[in-house]
Amino acid sequence: MYICLCNAVSDKTIREAVRRYQPKSIQHLRQIIPVGKQCGKCIRATREIMDEELQCLPQYKEIA
Ligand code: FES
Repeated sequence: MYICLCNAVSDKTIREAVRRYQPKSIQHLRQIIPVGKQCGKCIRATREIMDEELQCLPQYKEIA
């Protein structure tokens, strides 16, 4: 499913980028993939997906 329509970024792309690069913030993620660079409507959904994926990473589970 496309999350960012302006740049055709899917939830799958966001999840893969988060798993691979483990961005510390939405700004960091935006340096990796072109999400939210135009209208910005996708930022909220992107952040939710990013947080969800980060929770699934092993090192984050240990901290929580
Ligand atoms: S939907 Fe992502 S910048 Fe417009």
